[in-house]
Amino acid sequence: MSKHILILAGDGIGPEIMAAAEQVLAVVNTKFNLDLTWSHGLLGGCAIDAHGVPLPDETLAAARAADAVLLGAVGGPKWDQIERSIRPERGLLKIRSALNLFANLRPAILYPQLAGASSLRPEIVAGLDILIVRELTGGIYFGQPRGIRELENGEKQGYNTDVYSQSEIRRIARVAFEMARLRGRRVCSVDKANVLEVTELWKQTVTELQQAEYPDIELSHLYVDNAAMQLVRAPKQFDVLVTGNLFGDILSDEAAMLTGSIGMLPSASLDEHGKGMYEPCHGSAPDIAGQGIANPLATILSVAMMLR
Ligand code: IPM
Ligand code: MG
Repeated sequence: MSKHILILAGDGIGPEIMAAAEQVLAVVNTKFNLDLTWSHGLLGGCAIDAHGVPLPDETLAAARAADAVLLGAVGGPKWDQIERSIRPERGLLKIRSALNLFANLRPAILYPQLAGASSLRPEIVAGLDILIVRELTGGIYFGQPRGIRELENGEKQGYNTDVYSQSEIRRIARVAFEMARLRGRRVCSVDKANVLEVTELWKQTVTELQQAEYPDIELSHLYVDNAAMQLVRAPKQFDVLVTGNLFGDILSDEAAMLTGSIGMLPSASLDEHGKGMYEPCHGSAPDIAGQGIANPLATILSVAMMLR
């Protein structure tokens, strides 16, 4: 049965890396008779320019109708001064949330050819194959209340709320455990349970789920500061890492560097039924956009995840 892909190239290097990925997609589609079709839409700064908002209704409707979404990168200095609620990044967060793409899979694999490109010694990273499972539609990225308010003394105060319910924790932990069953059967859950109640509940809920349903998976826990350190000290100790939205954002950039280049990390963001959006983990790199020098591999690898 024919499947349809919505392509959202975005801003900066987005259109360049997507053009390269589309060439690969076209070859694979023909060679393996995949019967795929695709069309293009606007998300991010280019959508602001054309429609005044980063996620136009027609883009969201097309994304809902498609079998998968392939995304480049959004944002850039051109839109940095725009009112916060309609910045390019808000469009990305909104489409993730609207499509309920709670499970973000970010595999960090070091290809032998890039062993010398990592900032760590080859023996520390050679053969690296870890999977970061990041919760993508909750936590402090979406928690209410949030904002910048003025205090009685006239000073401004910024505030955000980190929040996770048990059901949100369980569904992302389940994804991590299921992924681990396809790999090394080890999950490390990352929290800051020594300080933050929200992650105390996270740790407890993940532990209960493992005991009840995944006794075959080895579960460990790390505080996020220690996890950040362990990732550069001995990254190969990990199989699957599962964590919340903010910690996952940070640790996945760190993991990307282990692979030699942030241009190497693809991702899949999946909903409850496995429908997904596929995007490189890196940004729109405005500093090198338009020169044809951006590394398209993370996008091409995201195509590979989509086809799987
Ligand atoms: C990522 C990016 C996004 C995020 C930004 C662009 C909003 O850093 O996908 O990791 O923070 O999730
Ligand atoms: Mg990030």
